[in-house]
Amino acid sequence: MSQQIQRHVSLKKYTTLGVGGETEYFVPVATPSELEEAVLFARSENLLIAILGSGSNVLVDDAGFSGLVILLESKGISFTLTNDSVLVTAQAGELLDDVVSYCSTKGWWGIENLSHIPGTIGATPIQNVGAYGVEIKDVIETVKVFNTQTHTYEVFKNEMCNFGYRDSFFKTQDGKKYIVTEVTLRLSLIANPKITYRDLQQLFANTTPTVQEIREAIITIRSKKFPNWKEVGTAGSFFKNPTVSIEKYKELTVAFPDLPGFKGEDDMVKISLGWILDKVLFLKGFRSGNVATYTEQALVLIADSSATAQEVIAFANSIVAEIKNKIDVSVEWEVTVLK
Ligand code: EPU
Repeated sequence: MSQQIQRHVSLKKYTTLGVGGETEYFVPVATPSELEEAVLFARSENLLIAILGSGSNVLVDDAGFSGLVILLESKGISFTLTNDSVLVTAQAGELLDDVVSYCSTKGWWGIENLSHIPGTIGATPIQNVGAYGVEIKDVIETVKVFNTQTHTYEVFKNEMCNFGYRDSFFKTQDGKKYIVTEVTLRLSLIANPKITYRDLQQLFANTTPTVQEIREAIITIRSKKFPNWKEVGTAGSFFKNPTVSIEKYKELTVAFPDLPGFKGEDDMVKISLGWILDKVLFLKGFRSGNVATYTEQALVLIADSSATAQEVIAFANSIVAEIKNKIDVSVEWEVTVLK
């Protein structure tokens, strides 16, 4: 193997939450052949494979992972201009924000609202990363993947990815055999500001912002709501916003008239869990031992550097139980567990 397979590597520094144990095998890969060799090694040793980008949505269990973690570090951005759009292809290991910065500097429209989200571009189709009125599915043209079973590359068109709210085909059992290696986005050369999010609407009322102005506004908004993940253990929103039936939403708004609700998939209403944690359960800034909800955004959990995964799990489970108990709404984690 060109890349050295490492043994018993702590995954703490490879996730932004910074908790959990070791992986039995670990290998960083930067090229297609390194990736292929790593997958062959896993197959020859009969090991499970887990892929890490920058680990910004992952909680590693205290018991660690008894397989091979492949750290995707492939880099490169290329583009092809067409009449009124540009196709931008980024290797999976590129940081999403580096891609956003690159495209915004060129004046290309479509991903500026996703500024400053931690994580790699390769992770974006898996959970259909989104923020401030934009989801990556809105601009994904194709996703190139490596099929770990057939050992071949395949290209998924947007509609084959079955995107949903923080969801895609790649999260299904069948989808897990694929490793995302490259993402191609179609961005617009024509101005197309997406400023429906309240803070943006207020800021840009009666103006026509540039791509860069939107990017800068997003960075300012985010800096007020999220802790700096380089200093604090966090995975952004820990839970998904729940979806409820229209009847349930009406029932909730009788008790809580200001509860924000948005039209979701299949006639359901997506409700703001951050608001519920803050205004219904009064859990904004709530701390238990080494884990807390963030003082500026209750949907964000933060973990001290001494926290264990078990503490984070217990804290999150207690919140889920409290919501169920208080308003009878089921909540799913957005964060993925690696174990
Ligand atoms: N709110 C409160 N108190 C809080 C938190 C929120 O009252 O402590 C209220 C806000 O004032 C607002 C509503 O709840 O009226 C929604 O809050 P916000 O706009 O901050 O967004 P969110 O629904 O909490 C989602 C995404 C974020 C994304 C933001 C902005 C999910 C799980 N989270 O959060 O994505 O940045 O919208 O678009 O959908 C992530 O997925 O990790 C993530 C950070």
